[in-house]
Amino acid sequence: MAIRISFAGKGGTGKSTLSALMVNYLVDKGLGPVLAVDADPNVNLNELLGEEVHITLGEIKEELRKSVPDHMARYDYVEMRLHQAIIEARGYDLLVMGQPEGPGCYCAAHSFLSQALEKLMKSYKYLVIDNEAGMEHLSRLNLLEMEHLLIVTDASFRGILTVERIVDLVRTLQIKVENYWMIVNRSPQDLPEELKRVAREVAEKKDIKLLTFLPEDSMVLKYEAQRVPVFNWNNSILKHSAYEAFSKLFTG
Ligand SMILES: Nc1ncnc2c1ncn2[C@@H]1O[C@H](COP(=O)(O)OP(=O)(O)OP(=O)(O)O)[C@@H](O)[C@H]1O
Ligand SMILES: [Mg+2]
Repeated sequence: MAIRISFAGKGGTGKSTLSALMVNYLVDKGLGPVLAVDADPNVNLNELLGEEVHITLGEIKEELRKSVPDHMARYDYVEMRLHQAIIEARGYDLLVMGQPEGPGCYCAAHSFLSQALEKLMKSYKYLVIDNEAGMEHLSRLNLLEMEHLLIVTDASFRGILTVERIVDLVRTLQIKVENYWMIVNRSPQDLPEELKRVAREVAEKKDIKLLTFLPEDSMVLKYEAQRVPVFNWNNSILKHSAYEAFSKLFTG
C-alpha cells in the first residue's frame, strides 16, 4: 500500500502550495511512483503542477449514475473510466476528485469506484492528497487511514490554536493517522518567540510533531501570477525550506 501524505488546515494557509511542493520533492528525490490527488472540489492543485484537467472523478460518478454500457462488465468499465481520469505527468500522476456526488447515488458504481481506487492506490509508492479546508470529506473519500497528516497554519496565535481543533476533529472522525505534523507557514523573519512557544505547547499538548516554520516568500505571488509550476520555482525560499522540512518525514 502507498504511503499516504495528506494536507489539512484552515482556508488559504498553503495546503495546495505545499502539496504541490511535496509532489515536486518526491519526484526530485526519485521516490516515485507518486499519485497526486486533488481532493478539493475547488480544483487547483493542477495549476500549481502545471497540468490541465480533462475529467474529474466526480464527473465520472455522475456519468455512471446515468448509464453504463451493456457490452462491458460494469466493474471493468468503471475501472477503465478511472484510468482515463488519471493525468500522466512528468514523473508522477494526478487524479482530480472534483465535486462530490449529489443525492441519489448510484451505489453499485460508487462501490465499484471505491474498489477500483483502492486497487489503483496500491500501484503507487506515495499518495499526496490536497484537501479542502474541512476534514469531514475525508470519510466520503474513503480516506480513513494515512501515514502522514500535515496540518498547515499561518503564523498567528489563532491559527496555531486551530491546529488543536483540527487534531480533535480528525480524532473524533476516527481517521487513523500514524504521524501528525504541524507546519507554521508564512512566518515572518522576526517571528515572536512567544508564538514559537505556543506552537511548541500545542504540539506537546496534542501529542503531535512540530515540523517546521516556513517563511513568507514574496516570489510565490510572482510565480503564481505568471502561472509558473512549482517545478520551476528556482528562486523560492519557501521551496528550499519546504524541502528541508519534508526530508524529516522520510528520515524519521
Ligand atoms: N510561504 C508563503 N509565502 C507567500 N505566499 C504563500 C505562502 N504559502 C502560501 N502562499 C500563498 O497563499 C495563498 C493560499 O495558498 P494555497 O492556495 O496553497 O492555500 P490553501 O490552504 O490550499 O487554500 P484553500 O483552503 O483555499 O484551498 C496563495 O496565493 C499562495 O501563493
Ligand atoms: Mg487549496
